Amino acid sequence: MTAAKTKEQLLEELKVRIEAANVTPELKKQATQLVFGDGNAEADIMFIGEAPGKNEDEQGKPFVGAAGKFLNEMLEMVGLKRADVYITNIVKYRPPNNRDPEPSEKEEWLPYLREQLDIIQPKLIITLGRHSMDVLLPGLKISQVHGQPKRYKDHVYLPLFHPAAALYNGGMRQTLIDDFALIPQILQKITNKG
Ligand code: URA
Repeated sequence: MTAAKTKEQLLEELKVRIEAANVTPELKKQATQLVFGDGNAEADIMFIGEAPGKNEDEQGKPFVGAAGKFLNEMLEMVGLKRADVYITNIVKYRPPNNRDPEPSEKEEWLPYLREQLDIIQPKLIITLGRHSMDVLLPGLKISQVHGQPKRYKDHVYLPLFHPAAALYNGGMRQTLIDDFALIPQILQKITNKG
């Protein structure tokens, strides 16, 4: 009997399949590379952002620019490191000039995000900003639901503001930090329920 594949191997296979597929070909043509995801394949927490920016496109990793630095700081505040969590985006090629991803682009990427979720099976899915929230938790307003865990179709989600939006907006920045501080107790509640 052959050994079951690890989550790491399954993610690598998915990455190779995406690279060979022509997902959002217009974005692919203009991007430097696929920004698939980064972190621990066995993580309990998975963060989902919007789309790669310039730094992410250059380095092939999500959240490595200013927003990523802020995200790392908030992770540290709650005792987590990037190596403890998994981080990806709904759209995995950089949109030109960092424009918002189109609804059709998000739709095209959604099945691949769902495959990543099926492999990792995180206990808590944290959406960063409205773009990833809209595709996974449709019909909600981020200003009304941020920081509130939502159980929806077999997963627990925590919608948060996007660190890039909060970075230079004092009020939103503090709100995001306060919401982030809730993560350990939310995760503990989920874990205790089994
Ligand atoms: N913003 C995002 O949504 N994702 C990144 O990877 C970087 C910035």
